[in-house]
Amino acid sequence: NVPYPQNEAQYSYAPGTKERDLLKNALKDLKSQVIDIPLIIGGKEIRTGDKGKIVCPHNHGHVLAEYHKAGEKEVLLAIEESQKAWKEWQKLRYEERISIFLKAADLLSTKYRYLLNAATMLSISKNAYQAEIDSACELIDFWRFNSYYAQQIYKEQPLYSPKGTWNYTQQRPLEGFIFAVTPFNFTAIGGNLPTSPAIMGNVVLWKPASSAIYAPYFIMKILQEAGLPDGVINFIPGSASIVGDICIKHPLMAGIHFTGSTAVFQKMWKDVGANIAKYTNYPRIVGETGGKDFVFAHSSADIKKLVVALVRGAFEYQGQKCSAASRAYIPRSIWGKTWEIMEAELKNLKMGDVEDFTNLINAVIDESAFESITEYIDYAKNSKDAEIIFGGKYDKSIGYFIEPTVILAKDPHFKTMEEEIFGPVLTIYVYDDEKFEETLEICDRTSPYALTGAIFANDRKVISMMMEKLEFAAGNFYINDKPTGAVVGQQPFGGGRASGTNDKAGSILNLYRWVSTRAVKENF
Ligand code: ALA
Repeated sequence: NVPYPQNEAQYSYAPGTKERDLLKNALKDLKSQVIDIPLIIGGKEIRTGDKGKIVCPHNHGHVLAEYHKAGEKEVLLAIEESQKAWKEWQKLRYEERISIFLKAADLLSTKYRYLLNAATMLSISKNAYQAEIDSACELIDFWRFNSYYAQQIYKEQPLYSPKGTWNYTQQRPLEGFIFAVTPFNFTAIGGNLPTSPAIMGNVVLWKPASSAIYAPYFIMKILQEAGLPDGVINFIPGSASIVGDICIKHPLMAGIHFTGSTAVFQKMWKDVGANIAKYTNYPRIVGETGGKDFVFAHSSADIKKLVVALVRGAFEYQGQKCSAASRAYIPRSIWGKTWEIMEAELKNLKMGDVEDFTNLINAVIDESAFESITEYIDYAKNSKDAEIIFGGKYDKSIGYFIEPTVILAKDPHFKTMEEEIFGPVLTIYVYDDEKFEETLEICDRTSPYALTGAIFANDRKVISMMMEKLEFAAGNFYINDKPTGAVVGQQPFGGGRASGTNDKAGSILNLYRWVSTRAVKENF
């Protein structure tokens, strides 16, 4: 049996530690080369010659790698290879499948931790601490906990068998292939979306976001070293219009496992709808999309804890976690004190590249993110209904740097209170204490999203009331804690409304989406 896992312990990378030196060596090593990233289809490396470049977001003059893009021929080949692999893979005893992912977790924990963290730091501009909780701990946890959950699913379901009969269920993978599309902001999600269907016996075509191909390529190599059979997961970076289009229109597309933008996910649903009569099975569509995550404080809140949530929740990884706090509601009675402590904390945040470990703020992912985030900042600068009370400056000459920015909105419906920005911008609305309930209602309804949210209060009755009023406003709901940092095995992650299908990454609920059950009755 797979034992109930423990969460992988974090390394501190404190000055003078051996871990810090090893991570620095890995950074140096990766920076000294420009790697050539092939497609991996049926276990074979394929180079199409149609190439894109991967640069460091905090130093966009530095090219880390070139990657080959899949065209129509390669996508069709990947589907063919996946179907060859499916025959053996789905028949394999589940213990054997699980052992591959447990081994991958061990390889990552002991042999490739520094490499994958360094790859994450350089390619998506995450500092060492943010990389460690993502590409080391969270990914290891995904593989270990999913192995445990998979085993639970394969254990027999209790069913009644009247005399002369035998009733049982069999869990089978989906017929066809799963199309996994992974985002830039978490290497761990990159590693989870293709592997959670695979552990349940499915075969996968994996298209990583074009802004995050570098670390996923190393994940693919780790999985191969752990013994993943050829063709079970096929790594096919390329344009959404080619790769996505062919996959989604294919009759064997049995499911989508997606994290990314709401617009792309909605387009996928439409394309699936348009092709619905072609599929062998109705595809399982599992996705996590946008968010407009909130922090809501009551006047009884502990101000110091609230400030930690506002600063860390909004600005870690430059506000590019899907869970990042992006709007806050603070009562007037505690606003003065809150801002006094918060401003002092913000002034301590240093911004710069990832190699100086004292820089807690790094760059945003790319030029198009830089442009769209700074447009929101400019909008607030030029508006009579808001004031920028911290930050607001930006510079893309060396890397895509945007200062942590705090906007004070006069109107709870101000544009930056309602729209997803996905960057280091927090908008705060200070409400009159007597309008507490009314403001809770506004919080519930101003955004179409419902991913994460945090409330701060010390009065039990108030907490219960806030939980009820905001019942559907967040799939991950925090009481007196920041809205980021869900841990596998502790807080299953995902949201509802326009934020996704809430199929909880890192939980047994997610893995159930990747099996199709056969109920068998035999008469004697
Ligand atoms: N697991 C990530 C977080 O909760 C998405 O911040």
